[in-house]
Parts: sequence; structure tokens; C-alpha cells
Amino acid sequence: MNNQQKSDPMLEAENLHKIYTDASKEVHVLRGVTLRIEPKEVVAVVGPSGAGKSTLLHILGGLDEPTQGRVLFFGEDVYRMKERNRSQFRNERIGFIFQFYHLLPEFTALENIVLPGMIKQNCGMTRALRDRGMELLNEVRLSQRAHHRPSELSGGEQQRVAIARALMNQPDVLFCDEPTGNLDSHSGEEIIKLLMQLNRTQGQTLVIVTHDEKIAAQAQRVIYLKDGEMTANHVKNSLEKVRVL
Ligand SMILES: Nc1ncnc2c1ncn2[C@@H]1O[C@H](COP(=O)(O)OP(=O)(O)OP(=O)(O)O)[C@@H](O)[C@H]1O
Ligand SMILES: [Mg+2]
Repeated sequence: MNNQQKSDPMLEAENLHKIYTDASKEVHVLRGVTLRIEPKEVVAVVGPSGAGKSTLLHILGGLDEPTQGRVLFFGEDVYRMKERNRSQFRNERIGFIFQFYHLLPEFTALENIVLPGMIKQNCGMTRALRDRGMELLNEVRLSQRAHHRPSELSGGEQQRVAIARALMNQPDVLFCDEPTGNLDSHSGEEIIKLLMQLNRTQGQTLVIVTHDEKIAAQAQRVIYLKDGEMTANHVKNSLEKVRVL
């Protein structure tokens, strides 16, 4: 990551294609997606089930290689990085939040949050990491739950732990794949409030896959995916009504 140019966009996808092949058939999931994401943006990705939203998010976040096309992070091709550099990119520059939280059940909330920091520094739980973990727990209003395991937390609380974990290494982009999809409407609203607050107060860049019209309406930009193609890429201010497909 030494050749980053200030003028390069933060994240750029060029003509992404993804084809999954299994024994019986090929599934052409993405069919030429091109987009840019700039720092401090809130971008919603919407579209019907099976449109390729999660696939796109995984490819943008360095988790799944495209069949064709490139992902550039400040001008550097993510899938041409050495494996070690790409792992580092995923751990330090990108945060992921999933519908089903993906917390490690045998660890406490605090331990789950601190883990990406331990991987980054290749160390155990230091005082500095613990302090940072507690600060994040405080930010997601869960200080009282530091030593609880995921099974002892509500869905909304688990998602807040997942957000804190994703923030541990101060990522450039937070990718959220239906972060409220498994929550009741009140807990879901709390999660979105928290994410938007992170964007307002810290300039956290957010890319949020959602089926929820109310969430998409809060984004500055909405990307519509249908059958693996971007059907529209609206700047919200130029759009009176955000219509979710
Ligand atoms: N590993 C895989 N192997 C084969 N096909 C896959 C694989 N992962 C996803 N697909 C297929 O790719 C298509 C897009 O999947 P994806 O998960 O990206 O959709 P999505 O837009 O996120 O849908 P949803 O809203 O239901 O989460 C689907 O038809 C899915 O079955
Ligand atoms: Mg999905």
C-alpha cells in the first residue's frame, strides 16, 4: 500500500463479473458492475433477493475474487496484492457487519471486539487493546456487557458488539450486509441510528445492503442491483422519492 495517490478514489470497481460454477451449471451473478465509493459517503445497495448484493459486497471488501474486472483501493488492485497484504487490507482497512453477527461464541463481547487488534499487532490482550475495546463498548452503549458471551446478549446487542469489532482497527470503509435483517424494528432502528452517528461524528464511510426503504432513504446515494447489473446509481438529493425494487 505504498503507492497510494491522494487523487485516486478510495474504492473503485471496474466492470465486475462474477460467475459461480458448480457441477451442473454456471451462475452469472454480476454482469459488469462499475462504481466508486468516496470517503465519508453513505451508500445503500438495494435490489431483489438473488440480485448479487452480498456477492458485490464481498468482492469490494477483498473477500471473494471477481471472475473478471478489478477492485482498486486508493489505486491499488486488491486482487493483485500478495495474500498476506490482502489479509492485512481486510483486517485493517475494511470492516464487515453481517445479518447474523458472526461473533465467536466462546469469547466475551470485549474479547470479540479486541480480536482484530490482536491480529493486527500479533499479540495477546494488552492494556491498550483492552482500553480501546472498552472505549468501543462504551460507544455502542454496552459497557455493562463487556464480559458476557454472545449467547447472553440480545440480537441488537450482538449486532452492536459486531459493529464495535468492525471499528476496532479504524477501517476506511464499513460494509454492512442487511445489518438489521434479523432484528425487530426498534433494535434495527437503534443500529441504523448508531451507524449514521458514526458517519456524522467520525466521517465513517458506510456501504449498506438493505431491503428497508427507510434505511435506503437515509443514504446519500443508492445503488440498485438487478440480475447482476446496476440499474441505477442515484445521488439521493436529485431523487425526490427513493424507490426500493
Ligand atoms: N458460492 C456460491 N455458489 C453458487 N452460487 C452462488 C454462491 N453464492 C451466491 N450464489 C448465487 O448468486 C446469486 C446472488 O447471490 P447473493 O447472495 O449475492 O444475492 P443477494 O442479492 O445478496 O440476495 P439476498 O437479498 O437474498 O441476500 C444467487 O442466485 C445465489 O444463489
Ligand atoms: Mg445477500
